[in-house]
Amino acid sequence: MQAAPLDPRTVKREQRTTWDGIGPGWEASLETFERGAAAVTGRLLALGGVRRGHRVLDVATGLGEPALAAARMVGPAGRVLGTDISPAMLEIARRRAGELGNVKFAAGDLESLDLEPGLAPGSFDVVLSRWGLMFAVDHAALFRSLAGLLAPGGVLAAAVWGPPQAVPMMSLGYSVLGERLELPPPPAGQPGPFSMSDPGRLARVLAGAGFTGVSVEEFTVPFRFGSTREWVDFTRAVTPRALIRRVGERFGSEDDPATWGAVGTAAERFRSADGGLSLPSTALCLRAVAPSGGAPSGRPSSR
Ligand SMILES: C[S@@+](CC[C@H](N)C(=O)[O-])C[C@H]1O[C@@H](n2cnc3c(N)ncnc32)[C@H](O)[C@@H]1O
Repeated sequence: MQAAPLDPRTVKREQRTTWDGIGPGWEASLETFERGAAAVTGRLLALGGVRRGHRVLDVATGLGEPALAAARMVGPAGRVLGTDISPAMLEIARRRAGELGNVKFAAGDLESLDLEPGLAPGSFDVVLSRWGLMFAVDHAALFRSLAGLLAPGGVLAAAVWGPPQAVPMMSLGYSVLGERLELPPPPAGQPGPFSMSDPGRLARVLAGAGFTGVSVEEFTVPFRFGSTREWVDFTRAVTPRALIRRVGERFGSEDDPATWGAVGTAAERFRSADGGLSLPSTALCLRAVAPSGGAPSGRPSSR
């Protein structure tokens, strides 16, 4: 049976609701997450060549990364704009920015930033994104739109996830919940964490969107958890509310000990010598240079 075609408006509405719900839990687990994720931020800043005075756009910034790190790097002569579909995530990002005067946050769908009034073509030196681009419905149109926002020769540097089996930090919890709730596997081609996990295809779509000098490298993110408790708390914090509600409906309580116990047990094989858990996970870090003659135009497109 063929899957029903995606309605982008429904996808966006669901994404907004999902991430608005995750925001506060993510903030509570931010330190645990950034212990590993900060290494990817460092790699993206290096790949993008971010330096003082640069104009930087961070797409799907969530709680403000890598926008805040970029803002510290570009200094007072530079400026950074972080965009995201979730107002709740952005509210936390603004709070985290504190006194930083060179960073702003604004709501925006990553697939139509080039249509936002005030975002002129060619107005950024670097576009960054850490684990956000995979939520696009139309990858080719997304990359064309980002190419158009970059100045000629500007750089897109972004991280997406590798395939699920190489990303236990994300896929382990989902697979336990999926089994316990008897969820069908997500239909192929859906926007989601693993939709850009094929490096060859990613490079081809980037080149097709007009980018040059495209590279896609594997980066092992050293996710570590001090204890099983910390791992389970983190997994729960970043699980969509809709799934947690289903745990409650099916097992009588959202705190169902058997479910969260199974999440803990599944990570046992990642136990490290110091008694903690080590779940190294593979990100794909891409770098692509915007064409000097402007991006190929034309909306909409196929993936
Ligand atoms: C995994 S989080 C990554 C957040 C942040 N960049 C980080 O690395 O911590 C994914 C983010 O993508 C955002 N997102 C999902 N779909 C989006 C869309 N269509 N447009 C803009 N942001 C989107 C979510 O709201 C969420 O903040």
